[in-house]
Amino acid sequence: MKDPNTVIVQLESISKTFRTRTSFLTGSTKEVVALNRVSFEIFKGEIFGLVGESGSGKTTTGRLIVKLETPDSGKLLVDGNDITQIKGRNLKNFRKKVQMIFQDPYQSLNPYFSVYDSVSEPLIVHNVGDSATRKDRVRQSLKDVGLSPPDDFFYRYPHQMSGGQRQRVAIARAMVLKPEFVVADEPTSMLDASIAIHIFNILSELRKKLNVTFLFITHSLAAARYLCDRIGVIYKGEMVETGAAEDIIQNPQHPYTQALIQAHPRFRHGPILKKYIR
Ligand SMILES: Nc1ncnc2c1ncn2[C@@H]1O[C@H](COP(=O)(O)OP(=O)(O)O)[C@@H](O)[C@H]1O
Ligand SMILES: [Mg+2]
Repeated sequence: MKDPNTVIVQLESISKTFRTRTSFLTGSTKEVVALNRVSFEIFKGEIFGLVGESGSGKTTTGRLIVKLETPDSGKLLVDGNDITQIKGRNLKNFRKKVQMIFQDPYQSLNPYFSVYDSVSEPLIVHNVGDSATRKDRVRQSLKDVGLSPPDDFFYRYPHQMSGGQRQRVAIARAMVLKPEFVVADEPTSMLDASIAIHIFNILSELRKKLNVTFLFITHSLAAARYLCDRIGVIYKGEMVETGAAEDIIQNPQHPYTQALIQAHPRFRHGPILKKYIR
């Protein structure tokens, strides 16, 4: 479970600006500051919730940590190692330990791959086991995300499944290598609230079972409260506060967090309402 003494991910003053060309003829560009000197840390075994409205820099933060994006400045440590410059074999080892679950499962599932192909592919890429071992690992991973009996799903294709099932397969694929750290980027925002709860419970079970650490990205403070140990609130590319989930809800310091809470009048006192969670 959560180990308050071991930091697994640490961001130190990370900044990232995107430059996009706005005119082909003049070559003029537009700059968007996605992250401005963001610092926070994630402890081993916890679920850390990154909460903020659309465009606040959440996905960019997640993509930086899994190395799909490079910061302009700042330091990014995973397991104590600076990962901004890693290459070659070290990068491949890193990719085995760190995974990402996307908002849209089609971002990680090839529509032409069966469930078995999708979930076994990371094992093949990283040369794990022989084909019998791999089959066991795929089976276990599908069971862990509630796709049971697993063999019934092996030869299904993404379009033959519901949105919730597709996201479960994407989670199984992310977890099959038993990663240390997983970024889940709004994994339920395309699903119905009742299905979102199942996905949250799966993530929570996986954390316990595999002792994996999660960065859970969401626009919903209610979802973060339901699932997370600690929360960081991000607003316009800046981290405005971090703390234990319940402390942030009961005693928000920043006006933006206060506004998020006031947007749900019954949220602070009443039971966690399912309709707010997604
Ligand atoms: N590849 C990109 N090129 C240009 N701008 C981008 C790119 N990715 C993100 N941005 C911009 O950076 C800001 C933060 O985006 P993002 O991290 O996706 O926010 P969130 O996930 O919180 O909605 C937004 O203004 C977005 O338009
Ligand atoms: Mg996003």
